[in-house]
Amino acid sequence: MRIIKVKDYDEMSKKAAEIIIERVRRAPDMVLGLATGGTPIGTYQELVSDHVHAETSYRNVTTFNLDEYIGLSGESSHSYRAFMNKHLFELIDILEENIHIPNGVSEDIQKECIEYEELIQKHGGIDLQILGIGQNGHIGFNEPGTSFESTTHIVELDPSTREANARFFKNSEDVPEKAITIGIATIMRSKEILLLISGEQKRAAFKQLVNGEVDEKFPASVLKKHQNVSIIADDAARGD
Ligand code: F6R
Repeated sequence: MRIIKVKDYDEMSKKAAEIIIERVRRAPDMVLGLATGGTPIGTYQELVSDHVHAETSYRNVTTFNLDEYIGLSGESSHSYRAFMNKHLFELIDILEENIHIPNGVSEDIQKECIEYEELIQKHGGIDLQILGIGQNGHIGFNEPGTSFESTTHIVELDPSTREANARFFKNSEDVPEKAITIGIATIMRSKEILLLISGEQKRAAFKQLVNGEVDEKFPASVLKKHQNVSIIADDAARGD
């Protein structure tokens, strides 16, 4: 794991965007794995600004998001689909048919998981996967205890994850209890992984990731077994 040290959230966002833009320019038909949450918002702002000013194009890029809440349709303002539309997709020239996010209101969620996984593999896998990390070490919505062999599956969200995500909802009870997430094995098949960590509240997770053992109890620890992972961590997350 390569650690890229940055000062703060803004610098993390700029650095992450710089790496993504370089990869998109080098391979304009690449497959990009995307995350939601507070962490990548600044990165997406940088991508949009670059798209407007430097005209990096996403016309031939295919995207797969990590996860989606079960029970929320793309029209719901709290869905990850709506989040992505607002922060990125509506602001760049990506084609609708190249955007993929699990369907949280599919009639057959199990089938949705299988088909989503197959679709990723059909596209040759993910070239660059962007990740955030939960305070409990989750990546995607793979909570502690998830098998390292897991592919796209249904998850019961950890109470701490629901609490952390309540800030995006009006009432904490509105946070869905379940989600669809790509699995740890799916993430590990990505050719390159970029993990973003910012803020004091992620310091313990950063420490555990860097110093801890590889263990299913801390899902992000699996990244130590990947050949091409960069972690962009700011001063607050690193604790120095
Ligand atoms: C989001 C995702 C999650 C988040 C993590 C951190 O698609 O899969 O793993 O990356 O919960 O969230 P934030 O960035 O809000 O701290």
